[in-house]
Amino acid sequence: MPRILGISGSLRAASYNTGLLRAARDTAGEDVTIDVATLHGIPLYDGDLETREGIPEAVEALKARVLASDGLLLVTPEYNNGIPGVFKNAIDWLSRPGSGIPALFGDRPVAVIGASPGGFGTILAQNAWLPVLRTLGCRHWAGGRLLVSRAGQAFDPDGTLQDEKVRGQLAAFVAAYAAHLQASR
Ligand SMILES: Cc1cc2nc3c(=O)[nH]c(=O)nc-3n(C[C@H](O)[C@H](O)[C@H](O)COP(=O)(O)O)c2cc1C
Repeated sequence: MPRILGISGSLRAASYNTGLLRAARDTAGEDVTIDVATLHGIPLYDGDLETREGIPEAVEALKARVLASDGLLLVTPEYNNGIPGVFKNAIDWLSRPGSGIPALFGDRPVAVIGASPGGFGTILAQNAWLPVLRTLGCRHWAGGRLLVSRAGQAFDPDGTLQDEKVRGQLAAFVAAYAAHLQASR
């Protein structure tokens, strides 16, 4: 059974993107597992901190979860038509070599989805991830697309997905990604 590690790029308690990831976990079929990760506790990347203290514990913990997965699901907000700094910061930390840990991203399947209150549903943030994923050597899965626009209507104020049409699209996306992961095992 493929195991997907979903990472939400928002720290907000009522985040649409974390809500989307939780909904992906809850609507996934029995033939796939989705772990929900957020970026709480990951410090700003600082080369001096890395030299002095090595890779921070929170980064090592997330790294271990990536290693235990068959594929990643990046659930990205969009800030100023790009990738939110906290999300890019976490991936930058994860890209740093830790002793004895194999390369994390090389050949790892990665899919990207996202939600925003505007009309374009994170299309520019999703596009902005592409050169980053290419640089990391990931295998970007482009077999499906999920752009959740008008998120203020699709989610409750606490960030719970309430739109059944979006839930159906999400379930189809996850099923197709899981089938891809299963086939490439
Ligand atoms: C600094 C900043 C820049 C933003 N820029 C965009 C943007 O370019 N496009 C967009 O659709 N939403 C933009 N937004 C709105 C976010 O999509 C919105 O805050 C959303 O709720 C963030 O995702 P979250 O709910 O998962 O935290 C921006 C928000 C912030 C704080």
